[in-house]
Amino acid sequence: MNILGFESSCDETSASVVCNGREVLSNVVATSLKDHQKYGGIIPEIASRRQLEYINIVTAQALTTAGLSLKDVDAVAVTEAPGLIGSLVVGRSFAHSLSFALQRPLVKVNHIEAHVYAGYLTEKNEKDRDLLGEFLLPAVGLVVSGGHSSLFYIKDFSSFRVFGQTRDDAAGEAYDKVARILDLGYPGGPVIDKLSQQVKDNDIKFPCAPLEGTDDFSFSGLKTSVLYYTQRNAKIGFSVEKVANAFQESVVNVLVRKSIEACLKKKVFSLLVGGGVAANSTLRARLSESAAARGIKVRFPSLPLCMDNAAMVAGLAYHLL
Ligand code: KG4
Ligand code: ZN
Repeated sequence: MNILGFESSCDETSASVVCNGREVLSNVVATSLKDHQKYGGIIPEIASRRQLEYINIVTAQALTTAGLSLKDVDAVAVTEAPGLIGSLVVGRSFAHSLSFALQRPLVKVNHIEAHVYAGYLTEKNEKDRDLLGEFLLPAVGLVVSGGHSSLFYIKDFSSFRVFGQTRDDAAGEAYDKVARILDLGYPGGPVIDKLSQQVKDNDIKFPCAPLEGTDDFSFSGLKTSVLYYTQRNAKIGFSVEKVANAFQESVVNVLVRKSIEACLKKKVFSLLVGGGVAANSTLRARLSESAAARGIKVRFPSLPLCMDNAAMVAGLAYHLL
């Protein structure tokens, strides 16, 4: 079954064809990120106008790359929510129209649940196709993106239950705000990740609210600690790399601890991680290490599939259909 999926919830416009819910035949992503960078964040009005310009182009490319035409499409999938309404409406209108014209089913997908699913996708012709058998459900899902930090209990791919979430900023949002404090540009995640790797010993430590006894997260106090540190040390100067590293250590520690604890508490031995922050090199290394020590299988998406993409939408739609 070939599903043509669309993702247009924010500044990416993406179309993808996924075969049988797993094999990514194409995944084309256009982004308006550059148009927003000078403002230090996404401008919804600009994002939705770019969606309109890109959607036809990415659709044509996704079909060409997959070697298919519209008549080979068995179903159409689209991100329903959450996201910026002006951006969402472009993908949704496009997908609804296409489904109507082709007389094929339309599957509406939740963007956050799709991020969790991304770790299940395989590249075209990739060898580890039997992963699905090896990677048993139920699983715990951790989504850490620019808008969300949530823990899910996944009984099967049509049943996601949130049991933990951020009480204030999302993890990616904290990265972006700290990058703004340090004058590192937008988005903050990749540059903080890179600077952080340059630090071996660090005397700076920032606290991250543990919210003991809950599965929730809180990152806004950590961000404020970074702000106060930079203000206090503005005159004498400080190492941007060390501040970035201390901030990242604090975020990664709490994400690793809470997601492993959640697996143990739920007696679940599969952990799926998704969202932009899942591209973080320290998080990938530490979580893999910590999960392996407790016999938990952890699965991260490939780096491009951590970011917003339509393959995760088309893949999850297969199970929903
Ligand atoms: O999932 P995503 O593409 O969009 C949303 O649905 O929000 O995530 C974007 C977020 C941004 O906040 C960005 O700073 C963060 O993911 N990010 C990272 C890294 N790459 C992107 N955060 C930490 N480390 C990274 N390497
Ligand atoms: Zn996303």
